[in-house]
Amino acid sequence: MNLTDSLLDFFLETREYTESICKPLEIEDYVVQPSIDVSPPKWHLGHTTWFFEEFILKPYAKSYSIFDVDFSFVFNSYYETVGKRVVRADRGNMSRPSVEKVYAYRNHVTGALKSFLEKKNSKEVLDILEIGIHHEKQHQELLLTDIKYILGNNPLLPKYTKNFKEHNSLERAQEWVPMEEGIYEIGHKSTDFCYDNELGRHKVYLHSYAISNTLVTNAEYMAFIEAGGYQKFDLWHAEGWDWVNREQISAPLYWHIIDGIWHHYTYNGLQKITTETPVTHLSYFEAFAYAQWKGCRLPTEFEWEAAQHLFAWGQRWEWTESAYLPYPNYKKADGALGEYNGKFMVNQKVLRGSSVATSSKHARPTYRNFFQTNLRWQFTGLRLAK
Ligand SMILES: [Fe+2]
Repeated sequence: MNLTDSLLDFFLETREYTESICKPLEIEDYVVQPSIDVSPPKWHLGHTTWFFEEFILKPYAKSYSIFDVDFSFVFNSYYETVGKRVVRADRGNMSRPSVEKVYAYRNHVTGALKSFLEKKNSKEVLDILEIGIHHEKQHQELLLTDIKYILGNNPLLPKYTKNFKEHNSLERAQEWVPMEEGIYEIGHKSTDFCYDNELGRHKVYLHSYAISNTLVTNAEYMAFIEAGGYQKFDLWHAEGWDWVNREQISAPLYWHIIDGIWHHYTYNGLQKITTETPVTHLSYFEAFAYAQWKGCRLPTEFEWEAAQHLFAWGQRWEWTESAYLPYPNYKKADGALGEYNGKFMVNQKVLRGSSVATSSKHARPTYRNFFQTNLRWQFTGLRLAK
């Protein structure tokens, strides 16, 4: 087994897993886009395929025949370097190409890439292949959360599958982990894959702090709601308070009160909320307000990374107090792939830790996720610091 064989297997298993996520869907579920931030499953299937076609097959595989010349326009997400594309809000307005044709596109590209790699490859190609695989894994998480949003905003609240466990109990009792002041190294270190935004590794000085070894639970968050947390302006940022009032927010996304009992939409349909599982589907605004109410705060991403080996993580993306900014000596890639991360480093907060929807081999202590402060359709929760 050489590097190409293992990467090829990794590629094939990743392609297959994306399709398995879509197995429980009805054909109509593939097309709708109930919010601009959510993409139709059909679009994810095509876009992850386009990435390999655009960045490997077109430039490197001389005998490759393009599946459909219009697909770059349909499935390019945000790469200005590559050219014009369908505006994001219109992704759900396209009944064509059909789902069947998009699956045929997937097979065409998967097959062509497999035969290309078996014949010929270079370090340059393998590096792009690796990014393409991890790119598809990022979209697997988005696919899962977009499917939840699509079905969870359907008035019938249909089930996706009962086989996806999105709520685990806390594994331990809450304790404060004390951290000493000092210099800590932050950023990716090993030779394993990472994104450019996890580099360069650098030193930060942290004052002493304490961080919770557990995530905030549904029961704890219910206490915030019952104490009138959504009605107390002094707990919120000005932007957060405007958001609460404008959008009439009074609970996490997917929460519904039925006969005085809190329920939430899950992949297995509407369920009673279990109190001792980590709260999820919170915006940064809500995470911040909750921390204020507790007389605590959110950790910075550096505090989180310095302490991550001391607590369990991996159930919820955790909002941090850190703005999404480049690390010192950050260098974006040349060409189109330089658009992958760098141009989004404005007006977003960093999330750390990964979630129940994160694909295998895609979570690591230095991974930096990022979203705008009002968004909450990912499995987002929080951990307190003080
Ligand atoms: Fe993408």
